[in-house]
Amino acid sequence: MMFRSVASVAVMRSARSSSVVGRGLSAVLKRDLASDSASTHIAPTPGNGRVVVVSSGKGGVGKTTTAASFAMGLADSGFKTVVIDFDIGLRNLDIHLGCERRVIFDFVNVLQKECTLSQALIKDKRSPNLSVLAASQTKDKNILTVEGVEELFIELRKNFDYIVCDSPAGIESGARHAMYLADEAIICTNPELSSCRDSDKMIGFIASRSRRAERGMFLFRAMAIALYCSVIVFLIS
Ligand SMILES: Nc1ncnc2c1ncn2[C@@H]1O[C@H](COP(=O)(O)OP(=O)(O)OP(=O)(O)O)[C@@H](O)[C@H]1O
Ligand SMILES: [Mg+2]
Repeated sequence: MMFRSVASVAVMRSARSSSVVGRGLSAVLKRDLASDSASTHIAPTPGNGRVVVVSSGKGGVGKTTTAASFAMGLADSGFKTVVIDFDIGLRNLDIHLGCERRVIFDFVNVLQKECTLSQALIKDKRSPNLSVLAASQTKDKNILTVEGVEELFIELRKNFDYIVCDSPAGIESGARHAMYLADEAIICTNPELSSCRDSDKMIGFIASRSRRAERGMFLFRAMAIALYCSVIVFLIS
């Protein structure tokens, strides 16, 4: 429930500023927001931050744009939020958030203990609740291990309410680790049959092969947002 309400806030903000997202999207989000505000609104407890992965089947459908605006929306709503670029080798979240000149250490440096987590976290200059963890430009995505990523998440969960992961497309290693360990997922798609079908596959992957699924916890709400048109495709729980 929490996820739906904050997702709605964040996406509504970007929807207002984006001429391509039409009135239909806003209407669906307003309805979700209204129903959420009437229900119990449970904030994450300290030390128990939630991991939200933003993923897709196909590339170039708006994951990074969504992750950046969603994280900014959460931070503006008062939640301590960190957004991590999982696109190792092809980072661009730092550009979306305007901090590309401030990247000294990255996500892989933290995993390889070449720096501390606090040295690698970049504080956003506009939103005091938002921090960014950039991806490495030079390393290979195979450098990620589930154990390494999990250790990092344990540390981040203690200090942040939300950990938003900008994942690469598909189910290669970088994306897989984030999805395996996530609490919630946002699956981006655009209104083409091939993109929708690949998104459907991703939702199936998360629903069957994530750690929560392995433990029989069906708490995911995967939301597919159709870019370039005014429709939210579906919500599952
Ligand atoms: N809602 C939107 N409407 C129209 N264009 C969009 C929207 N969101 C993103 N874009 C544009 O689509 C392009 C791809 O966006 P983005 O980089 O966020 O996609 P991505 O899924 O992260 O790509 P990749 O798979 O390469 O990581 C960019 O040019 C971006 O400006
Ligand atoms: Mg991207």
